[in-house]
Amino acid sequence: MDNKGLVYLDNAATTQVDPRIADALSKLMQTHLGNPSSRHALGLHAERAVRNARAAVAERFAVDKSRVFFTSGATEASALAILGTAAKQRAPGHVLVSSTEHPSVLDSAALLSKAGHEVERIPVDQDGVIDAKRLESMLRPETFLVAMMHVNNEVGTVQPVGRLALLVKRKNRRCRVLVDAVQSFGLLATKMDGLSADILVASGHKLHAPSGIGCLALKRGVSLAPIWGGGDQEQGLRPGTENVLGIVALGMAATLGRGDRQRLADGCRVLQEAVRAALRDSEPVVASERRAPHIVTVTVPGLRAEVVVNALSERGVCVSSGSACHSRRSLRSHVLTALGVADDVEVIRLSLGRLSSDDEISRGAELIESTLKGLR
Ligand SMILES: Cc1ncc(COP(=O)(O)O)c(C=O)c1O
Repeated sequence: MDNKGLVYLDNAATTQVDPRIADALSKLMQTHLGNPSSRHALGLHAERAVRNARAAVAERFAVDKSRVFFTSGATEASALAILGTAAKQRAPGHVLVSSTEHPSVLDSAALLSKAGHEVERIPVDQDGVIDAKRLESMLRPETFLVAMMHVNNEVGTVQPVGRLALLVKRKNRRCRVLVDAVQSFGLLATKMDGLSADILVASGHKLHAPSGIGCLALKRGVSLAPIWGGGDQEQGLRPGTENVLGIVALGMAATLGRGDRQRLADGCRVLQEAVRAALRDSEPVVASERRAPHIVTVTVPGLRAEVVVNALSERGVCVSSGSACHSRRSLRSHVLTALGVADDVEVIRLSLGRLSSDDEISRGAELIESTLKGLR
């Protein structure tokens, strides 16, 4: 689809591939790429490309490059982390997941219940932040995994993961902390030690690489049991011939990052004000000081979110009525429910990326204001 003139405000769902990455991939595709496992020149060339990308990703996580494992995306990375941690337990145990996790974490954790583990959800406050005391009271000696996402994809909450993870470790030294860093990787600090995490997960298509590539990083000394076999790629943890093009793209994306935080925050403010200029009672779901700079989710009082999304789409503006998965399933978002947002409150999510230009943002603001005024 020709997207000239489109205003794309749905970067939390996926991002446009950076032209520099597209260019590099297109050149690479026109060369004869070997299999990184082959020992001839073409294989060694591919292996080198994978090695360089691994080093770039490892730098963002501040881990040794041997601790980065490429996967098909963040969903697979979280599944590997959760199932691979559980597979190392000798007896059924206890798992805690924050109630605003992405379905990739919630659904994989739910699989553990079938294997006899107990899985509980950690409640959050009205901004989506976990209450430390509540978390502490839920931890048990047999808790072997706590999953807390860094930035929520639906409402943008930044979880104080570092502080909470330290609390977990103080109470239960052996418990692993899994952090879904999909929305923060390349934007906020995602160093393994800084977040006091054991396992970090990221995805390429949220930061201007194509979809179908992601990774997990393991802290030194942390290991997972493989959950399928088939080869010794990725140290046997993720067997299967490597997606060399995707890996190269993720390595470049990790280096290029997600853009200037202040510019993204200013852009979100402009968009939020545009909604407010049309709908006086519109409110952000999460207070700005507790939110990542690139996502703002706002209420649309008196309107149905689906109608707003469609009306804006007709005028060339792409926004979402929640996360991409929820908007398609048209279920009430579990994140809004966890934040205590009443069922009849409708919201739209506006999210920016490094390639959102100032002109695109101001055109978006004008179109949002006029479209919403027309719908009122
Ligand atoms: C916070 C979060 N975690 C996980 C995922 C899943 O990532 P992927 O599409 O790479 O499987 C997404 C993407 O929707 C996300 O936003």
